[in-house]
Amino acid sequence: MADNSSVRAYNSWWQIRSDTWSRLEETSSQLADASLRDEPADGMAETTSELLDALALIEQFWAFPGTEVYQRARDLFAAAKYHRFARVVARVNRALVTESYRTGSGWSLADGDDEKADSGDAPADRDTGARPYFEVLVVETLTAAQEHALRQEVRSWRRPDDHFSYELVVVNSAEEAIIAARMNANLQACVIRRRFAGAAAHDLSGLAHFADSRIAGDLAGQTQDERAQILARRLARLRPELDLYLMTEIGVEDTAGHLSHHFRRVFHAREGALELHLSILAGVAARYRTPFFEALRHYSHRPTGVFHALPISQGNSIVSSHWISDMIGFYGLDIFLAETSATGGGLDSLLEPTGPLRQAQQLAAETFGARRTYFVTNGTSTANKIVAQAVIAPGDIVLVDRNCHQSHHYGLMLAGAQVSYLNAYPLHEYSMYGAVPLREIKSRLLALRAAGKLDRVKMLMLTNCTFDGIVYDVERVMEECLAIKPDLVFLWDEAWFAFARFHPVYRPRTAMRAARTVAERLRQPEYRARYELHAAQLAGDDESLLEQRLLPDPARARVRVYSTQSTHKTLTSLRQGSMIHMHDQDFAQKVEESFHEAYMTHTSTSPNYQILASLDLGRRQASLEGFELVQRQLEYAMRLRDAIDHHPLLAKYMHCLSTAELIPAEFRASGLDQPLRSGLDSMSKAWEQDEFVLDPSRISLYIGATGIDGATFKREQLMDKFGIQINKTSRNTVLFMTNIGTKRSSVAYLIEVLVKIARDIDDQVVEMSPVEQAVHARAVLKQTSPCAPLPDFSGFHAAFTSRGDPPTPEGDVRRAFFLSYDDTQCEYLPPDEVEQRMEAGQQVVSASFVTPYPPGFPVLVPGQVFSQQVLSFMRDLDTPEIHGYNPQIGYRVYTSKAVEIAGTGR
Ligand SMILES: Cc1ncc(COP(=O)(O)O)c(C=O)c1O
Repeated sequence: MADNSSVRAYNSWWQIRSDTWSRLEETSSQLADASLRDEPADGMAETTSELLDALALIEQFWAFPGTEVYQRARDLFAAAKYHRFARVVARVNRALVTESYRTGSGWSLADGDDEKADSGDAPADRDTGARPYFEVLVVETLTAAQEHALRQEVRSWRRPDDHFSYELVVVNSAEEAIIAARMNANLQACVIRRRFAGAAAHDLSGLAHFADSRIAGDLAGQTQDERAQILARRLARLRPELDLYLMTEIGVEDTAGHLSHHFRRVFHAREGALELHLSILAGVAARYRTPFFEALRHYSHRPTGVFHALPISQGNSIVSSHWISDMIGFYGLDIFLAETSATGGGLDSLLEPTGPLRQAQQLAAETFGARRTYFVTNGTSTANKIVAQAVIAPGDIVLVDRNCHQSHHYGLMLAGAQVSYLNAYPLHEYSMYGAVPLREIKSRLLALRAAGKLDRVKMLMLTNCTFDGIVYDVERVMEECLAIKPDLVFLWDEAWFAFARFHPVYRPRTAMRAARTVAERLRQPEYRARYELHAAQLAGDDESLLEQRLLPDPARARVRVYSTQSTHKTLTSLRQGSMIHMHDQDFAQKVEESFHEAYMTHTSTSPNYQILASLDLGRRQASLEGFELVQRQLEYAMRLRDAIDHHPLLAKYMHCLSTAELIPAEFRASGLDQPLRSGLDSMSKAWEQDEFVLDPSRISLYIGATGIDGATFKREQLMDKFGIQINKTSRNTVLFMTNIGTKRSSVAYLIEVLVKIARDIDDQVVEMSPVEQAVHARAVLKQTSPCAPLPDFSGFHAAFTSRGDPPTPEGDVRRAFFLSYDDTQCEYLPPDEVEQRMEAGQQVVSASFVTPYPPGFPVLVPGQVFSQQVLSFMRDLDTPEIHGYNPQIGYRVYTSKAVEIAGTGR
């Protein structure tokens, strides 16, 4: 039963809405049938009435079918006109399910045409053609008649050549405006009028989880202008992409002068209605623009003669080929028409953009809340190297999670950084890492300060979120680090987090939003006062500094933040499409030139235009429907979790790792073990307070009890048998991710597959002979009992570290790496030999990166000393893929002579 309480579940209102309409269609048609046969249908009527009640609560926030149609359906039901009632419900539901209301179908009901619909003679629906459709929120106290008139007026402005069509959602209060913004993903703009209430006039307690309990209080006693500004700020925080307009009857000129930057424009109520309409269309058109995609499409239709490279351009080398014409059949001709090496003719150069590419990047910066954005065509692997080279000079000290992606290790090696590896907290039970605790970062900075090296510390690089979905408190990490080192540069690797910008709970933990928040805070006079009090009370010893929450000095701190995102991993883009976003207050002064050089170093002079165009389109999509898509993605993830964990057979063999299992209690100030399960409010609470939170869209499935290891489960069970692709595994887990392309039916398929796998295992276990049972029990024991602990970074050999008193652990990976180019400095040692030498008191030094997949982090880097922990971990591993290690010949290590000479040269 779709009761109101279920609206409180995570984000599932939209599924509840569509399910409730579908069930209403079923019951209304049963009612109609019963009335035809003159049969009693009291039970059915009761269910129908409950369904209508459930819808009453949420329908007010959508333009379609709208409150008028809803009321008409209710009236028909109350009057027991079940046939007409069933027909209205069926039409609404069909339009909702197929989304045909977006192109006009079903709207005639809003004009009172259900009688005609009843006769089977459907009237022509609203003429919107195939124009994209959206909804506009109007916040104003209106009577039903005024509201009706307003809708009619807006419709009368429509022109056949409009690019978009829209309808209005009218709410009377700020409280309802917030709920509408949270629920209705069709909203693209909001018009705030001066007369609106703070609190809703009717009971919304069933939607308490979507409400902002403080807004009505905050508005009380404020001037009308202030009220509008407060509401605008709240809406902008929730949905920064919404275009906000203010409509006022008085003093437009004065209001315009002190309008908050959240409003796009202010209009005079009587004069500005048509202009407002045109501005609403123009606002959406601005986000819809895809300058580079459009330029490329335009170019591809121009006849050109190619006396240059790229025979494939315009399909020339393919169309007439006798042997590869199937290439056109498969890819279509357009992609080749769009293949060109031209940078003129309306196109642009990625290395020096001045036209459509530059505009596309500017639009991306706006969408992602960055000061600047650069497109990258070779993945975040390259984006990371570009940022590293741009910011780091040889000898600069960089703090980095040792468990980061390989591109950071290579980028730091190339840049000549002194690398200080940070240890993430380990999850030995699942052979994976969490994230780096703030305490570890602060203590490393304090140690460098004690050694007099703080001036050489340049950058902190962290992965947010991690592959397994652990998310940092980005704002807090940056503030506390800036309190110790005010000009520290941050690189947040958001390869897996581009989508996070589009959900209000995730957004504060993204690099660009956190950078903006910190920068704004540092400018506030109240913050300065708070800082001064804090500084006066601060005990200066290291232990106190580690314990306390530190505040940066607003007079000294600089906000210098970079983020790299694999657009292709979580949003729409062709493979390798990535973006670098930045919010660096010192960019123009300190980095712009080196950034340009770094970009040139790593970027092809023949970048792939299709990737660039797809980044432009991916940005458009994120800006216009990111909010909706990310909500759905989360919802599917939650459904998947619920379905797995509540299935009795699955529960025998697998379960989804919870927040409590992946994030130790010491990092969860909220005390919530399962914030994802207990509604949006709990999730928000954890995301506001906890040092680490779990991204709900990533699900680590623990499969220890199957006795099958993660890699085999992925290959033999999921891929070979059922064609399900996943990426990451650990010894006893497999990682499922939902993304913005995930469908409800693919989630259902995955559950079906997991049940089949569990059933197979169950059947096999029952039929096993005693010997086979013993083998199976041993396999289960192996997967579920502890294995060798994950090895911490053991340290660089002194020959590759810099001098200092007290010594600090950073090392020169570049020197250690290039030394190995001289074969005479290296030798190969089997693991036993390494162990023997260590037992004899010798330090054995790796000459290469050694990276097993999984888990995918380098267990050894050049210049690192072997440890017992490293050897036992490697011995216990049963992964076939280990980069940098050949079991036939052993580890590549430096000869003791080489190490000795390297030590004298430091
Ligand atoms: C944390 C992290 N950073 C960077 C990358 C590289 O991204 P791309 O595949 O876009 O080059 C990956 C790839 O898996 C990653 O996991």
